[in-house]
Amino acid sequence: MSEPSPPRGLWASRTGFVLAAAGSAVGLGNVWRFPYITGENGGGLFVLIYLACILLIGLPVMIAEIMIGRAAQRSTVSAFKNLAGPRTPWRALGGLGVVVAFLILSFYSVVAGWTIHYTLLSLRGLLGGRTPEEIQALFGGLYTSVPLNLVWTLAFLALTMAVVGRGVRNGLERWSRIMMPGLLVLLLVLLARATTMDGFGPAFGFVFGLHADSLTGGGVIEAMGHSFFTLSLGMGGLLTYGSYLRRDADVPLMSVGIAGLDTLIALLACLVIFPITFSYGIEPAEGAGLIFTSVPIAFAQMPAGGVLATIFFALMVVAALTSSISMLEVATAYFIDEKGWSRSRATWISGLTISALAIPSALSGATDLFGPRFASLAGRSWFELVADLASNWSLPIGGMGMALFVAWRLPAALRREQFASGSRFARGYAGWLIALRYVVPLAMLAVFGRAVGVF
Ligand code: PFF
Repeated sequence: MSEPSPPRGLWASRTGFVLAAAGSAVGLGNVWRFPYITGENGGGLFVLIYLACILLIGLPVMIAEIMIGRAAQRSTVSAFKNLAGPRTPWRALGGLGVVVAFLILSFYSVVAGWTIHYTLLSLRGLLGGRTPEEIQALFGGLYTSVPLNLVWTLAFLALTMAVVGRGVRNGLERWSRIMMPGLLVLLLVLLARATTMDGFGPAFGFVFGLHADSLTGGGVIEAMGHSFFTLSLGMGGLLTYGSYLRRDADVPLMSVGIAGLDTLIALLACLVIFPITFSYGIEPAEGAGLIFTSVPIAFAQMPAGGVLATIFFALMVVAALTSSISMLEVATAYFIDEKGWSRSRATWISGLTISALAIPSALSGATDLFGPRFASLAGRSWFELVADLASNWSLPIGGMGMALFVAWRLPAALRREQFASGSRFARGYAGWLIALRYVVPLAMLAVFGRAVGVF
């Protein structure tokens, strides 16, 4: 294995990688997407399947993905070439990841744009003193607005490009350092409020009770797809971050920490949101607007609610940013490593392409103006279709590919050395390898089979 030609921006501090990887994992997936798909899939069994996927599939794949990056010291496509030869078919996995990064960021930035809008609304005091009905109508107004969606989506993408253009070391670690503890504290404040609501008991039962009423094959695949989405797995984001990682880092330990924190935040978000929906008669299955229609209701009735709401939504913007950065970094690092482009050129070209792709997603709700056929495909909005294809199918397929690569293609000595060097989990090697070789592919085949109706 050759050393990389351009010096790579190794993380500035020992915690740099952990902060950035956790910043990538913790994002809108935890606070926006997980509660809303849990609501749509009836809670209970869906949550359990999701947790099983995190533990049995997500965690082993995360270790494998980071390891590929660290072993190769290269971003996605180049990493596979570096480890398996220049013409290796495995490099297609890297190519898939770059395409998926473009797709995911194109719809992610729309929701991130909504969080910017809500930050400004609460800053101007416009969320306070409203009835639950008015708060719901407010989201409807945003969802269908052409100018608001366009402006905030593109503004968020510009922000992402500004950070990525400056390189991984600058800024990224600092952002994550503020965002994570801040988000945790605010979720705990909201949780304290939620426990006093009438809806807390039913909400707890909804999230943790074992009822399977509305879980479909599609729901099972959504649980698995989301476990990849929320951990940022399967498209090379963590692989790319791992390529900037020093050789003495304890990858298994870091992975356990990142997956644990990510899961904690997702569950907390549910325990904050569902008590509100149950107390105020909001549909748990209300869809993508769930967090925007529920959380402001709780803040509206709390002392200093306006300030807290502003901080909450601002933290969501930062959480979205530390995730979107990791998506754009996949594309940017690919063009730098593979095509020899400068960082700023790679960032500009990828960012502008994603901006163009984001426009139909941003306009997916604006059916009044453009008619229901605009920005829709096969009966679904462009936004829903891209989200489903990219996160429920492409990420798991990419992740399974990486698991198979590490389990079957990587030389055994290198694999063992990468897992065990400096790790206090060195004894877990055999179990991890079994998970990668058998549990991950079989579980995924079962889920895909269920989704397409084979069982
Ligand atoms: N994990 C991020 C979240 O939960 O919001 C989303 C994400 C980031 C997905 C990076 C995929 C990715 F590569």
